[in-house]
Amino acid sequence: FHVPKAVNEPVKSYAPNSPEKAKVLEAYRQMWQSKIDVPLYIGSEEIRTGNTKNMTAPHDHKHIVGTYHLAEKLHIEKAIANALEAKTEWANMAWEQRAAIFLKAAELIAGPYRARINAATMIAQSKNIHQAEIDASCELIDFLRFNVEFMTQIYGDQPKSNSDMWNRLEYRPLEGFVYAITPFNFTAIAGNLPASAAMMGNVVIWKPSDSQIFSAKIIIDVFKEAGVPDGVINVVFGDALMITDTVLASRDFAGIHFTGSTHVFKDIWAKIGTNIHHYKTYPRIVGETGGKDFIIAHPSANPKQVATGIVRGAFEFQGQKCSAASRSYVPRSLWPAIKEQLITEVKSMKMGSPEDFSNFITAVIHEGSFDKLVSFIDQAKKDADAEIIVGGNYDKSVGYFIEPTIIVTTNPHYTTMETELFGPVMTIFVYEDAKWEETLELVDTTSEYALTGAVFSQDRYAIEQATTKLQNAAGNFYINDKPTGAVVGMQPFGGARASGTNDKAGSALNLLRWASPRTIKETF
Ligand code: ALA
Repeated sequence: FHVPKAVNEPVKSYAPNSPEKAKVLEAYRQMWQSKIDVPLYIGSEEIRTGNTKNMTAPHDHKHIVGTYHLAEKLHIEKAIANALEAKTEWANMAWEQRAAIFLKAAELIAGPYRARINAATMIAQSKNIHQAEIDASCELIDFLRFNVEFMTQIYGDQPKSNSDMWNRLEYRPLEGFVYAITPFNFTAIAGNLPASAAMMGNVVIWKPSDSQIFSAKIIIDVFKEAGVPDGVINVVFGDALMITDTVLASRDFAGIHFTGSTHVFKDIWAKIGTNIHHYKTYPRIVGETGGKDFIIAHPSANPKQVATGIVRGAFEFQGQKCSAASRSYVPRSLWPAIKEQLITEVKSMKMGSPEDFSNFITAVIHEGSFDKLVSFIDQAKKDADAEIIVGGNYDKSVGYFIEPTIIVTTNPHYTTMETELFGPVMTIFVYEDAKWEETLELVDTTSEYALTGAVFSQDRYAIEQATTKLQNAAGNFYINDKPTGAVVGMQPFGGARASGTNDKAGSALNLLRWASPRTIKETF
């Protein structure tokens, strides 16, 4: 079988006076006034429960952009029933037909929906246009295209046979339904988690983050227009605990595809354990959770490259990436040059609404996140072993704005070296050059997480030492680059330890989790 060879979607530049800039701004302004009302999508129905919540813009939090309807337990049970009803036809459909539907979805995003999905991501997730383009358009398109290519590899991977015996592997979907829980910080992940399970013939209950429903609505429109049948992806909003408990109580629960916080994932895992005797099959548990991602510079590193890596790794998308760099280890000899460059670069960043395309930093996602970040920043202002060298100001009167902030600490175990903050705060520890090897040990043992990390060095032996010593400290390891921005088809993404099950988003490994192969031997 052949499907079109996957290619990464080129990133548009949105240069001043470009037609694509005009188009996205027009979509932004229209959607800003849209007051859309998002129902639950269950089977063929759009259900408006009347119990609604507002969607707002983090950079202008008094502005309501729409509402969404909250499910009750009966809606979740109905969604499960509808999913199971849609299952047989979807699972028995030729896989090329399913592939065609998702390739079509990719092309809809690449073309007619691009401006809107980017604008929605800018409005309700406060991404600047470049981050919205990379995430909501390019990465989501790439996930869909590459996953189709991985489907070809998976379905084509067959055991040996001979003339009187035919052995086949039938990659059936899981027996039951898959539950997808998606985060606010990537529109691409929100689309990919339900889609990757569905591509493999599964039916899905999808619960997006409350803060991402504006762009989730566009993903739903795209999937519908592309031809995903009713009941295959059911979308519900509401009380997360109630939804999860109802889903996990079903005997047909067959797997979870999760991106979110470590503690929520661990709680869900424990509940699945409690319910295990009740399920028809052992559920697949796939999760990508937190990070406390590092940058370590060797004394041979180029200071300018290190400073740019820190700034981009820590502050793009307000540091609200599970992959964002949040702790750095810099040698004393390079510190003066790196410090000067860091301060210059951070001071040159503009902060404000994503509607102004020159703003690099916008608002953090909500008040809870703002208040948490502020408490750590205020504490650092008081602590003797911490110093804020740039940033440290914040203001939530209009939007949840926090300046990119760099804390330097003399204590390698200072709270912000260890705690995941999920915001634009970087903490740096300056180590003595002679203590390179001890510092590698420190990097490895300081955090419970192991998602991403980077080493900067011009010395090949030091690169080798870091690569070996930190082999379990990061699922995505970068040499002389920032630890963010994994591209589908190039850097499969995911980490272990408290960061997740490392089933690499954007790889055949991930798709395989959504299949339960049957071996068939036939003799002639
Ligand atoms: N895949 C995203 C990145 O690498 C999280 O930054």
